[in-house]
Amino acid sequence: MTEQTQTPSPKKLFIKTYGCQMNVYDSDRMRDVLKPLGYTPTDAPDDADLVVLNTCHIREKATEKVFSELGQLKRMKSASGGKMTIAVAGCVAQAEGAEIMRRQPAVDLVLGPQSYHKLPEMIAKVARQTGDVLETEFDVQEKFDALPIKRDADGMSALVSIQEGCDKFCTFCVVPYTRGAEFSRSVDTIVAEVRGLAAQGVKEITLLGQNVNAFHGAAPAGENGEWGLGQLLRHLAKIGGLERLRFTTSHPKDMDDDLISAYGELDVLMPYFHLPVQAGSNRVLKAMNRSHTAESYIETMRKVREQRPDVALASDFIVGFPGETDEDFEATMDLVREVKYASAYSFKYSRRPGTPGAEMFGQVDEAVKDERLQRLQALIREQTTEFNQQQVGRTLPVLFTHNGKLEGQALGKSPYLQSVHVENAQHLIGKIVDVEIVGATLSSLTGVLSTK
Ligand code: SAH
Ligand code: SF4
Ligand code: F3S
Repeated sequence: MTEQTQTPSPKKLFIKTYGCQMNVYDSDRMRDVLKPLGYTPTDAPDDADLVVLNTCHIREKATEKVFSELGQLKRMKSASGGKMTIAVAGCVAQAEGAEIMRRQPAVDLVLGPQSYHKLPEMIAKVARQTGDVLETEFDVQEKFDALPIKRDADGMSALVSIQEGCDKFCTFCVVPYTRGAEFSRSVDTIVAEVRGLAAQGVKEITLLGQNVNAFHGAAPAGENGEWGLGQLLRHLAKIGGLERLRFTTSHPKDMDDDLISAYGELDVLMPYFHLPVQAGSNRVLKAMNRSHTAESYIETMRKVREQRPDVALASDFIVGFPGETDEDFEATMDLVREVKYASAYSFKYSRRPGTPGAEMFGQVDEAVKDERLQRLQALIREQTTEFNQQQVGRTLPVLFTHNGKLEGQALGKSPYLQSVHVENAQHLIGKIVDVEIVGATLSSLTGVLSTK
């Protein structure tokens, strides 16, 4: 008899998730595969039989956090008399698996992002103290085939991973090395997962991929060829009960006209579009191997706005990429002024081992990066505040998801992904309700229940 068929004894599981939404999705799937083994989630690591750190490698700071967290876990493990099992998953595990095992002997197992379906087997190996507990194979097909499509919905909003990996090799980025080559799931498996979630009352689905708009999944049974993201969105839009669709993150090079026109056609596709540009100077974009120019990016954003005039635009930026001059940086500021963003994430360039950027001449001083980041973030804050203030006086449909901090207050999301606080609305959690926006700050909106 194998471990899986015995009645499992109850055990506690603590997962800490770093990094992007792909990791959030993966953590949920790890909870799913561990459930039949008797693991139930806990909020406290010191209470857990199994602790999983689902890690991010994107910037140096993210990676360093993992090693300091492991130091603390080691102390908890000793306090537990060694009963706690510690697993490191995610992108640091993929990139530095052997190093983790060497630097922190308290770690019992290491598994990369494509190996989560092997968790039960690996835990059994730890218990028996046999075999290899480092698993960093790249087999995305196997991962998706092995993970159950049926999932328990957790709230009204769910993430669904449809594409993984990246073949773009931007010269600053570790993702192609940590997540492997691009892979798209089949349309049928995605539809089955989304239908299952909708049947449990999920109203909002966010489709995930490192390059989600490069999606090219096998067409449904009975049809030949592959579908792109535009086609997939049109199909999912018909699923009963689903009221909101989103997708993230896209690459400018894969933004085709079919996907752009979906913004004009589909009411359920939310008017929020995150398209990272990274920089505004064509010289820097070339050195980054982004395969698009500032002009082609601006043109894409213009076309999306043409289809959906109220769309909220978002981006990611890196300042201080090797060789970035003051003039190059000013080109980034100009691009931001031209596009006008509703929100954006911006980062100082972080030198990542193994990427071409790390070896380039002209690494930029930390102080210069700091100064550029502050200027860019000030401009973005101005634009976000302005965008938020434009909503005052409008009535927006809000999907209520959580209790607010104040008595009776509920928190929800506008179509533009803004947080909205509303008094006396806790009874509306799980619903989409019209809200009159009466106030706006940099970080959120306040509203009152619409009487219109
Ligand atoms: N696949 C997505 C996101 C990748 S990671 C895309 O192609 O846009 C998310 C963001 O982290 C990137 O958009 C980039 O702005 C930032 N990032 C990636 N590598 C970085 C590095 N070495 N230093 C600083 N920021 C980085
Ligand atoms: Fe990284 Fe570039 Fe791939 Fe995005 S497109 S994941 S930034 S290599
Ligand atoms: Fe980080 Fe890996 Fe996501 S490096 S950003 S967790 S793909």
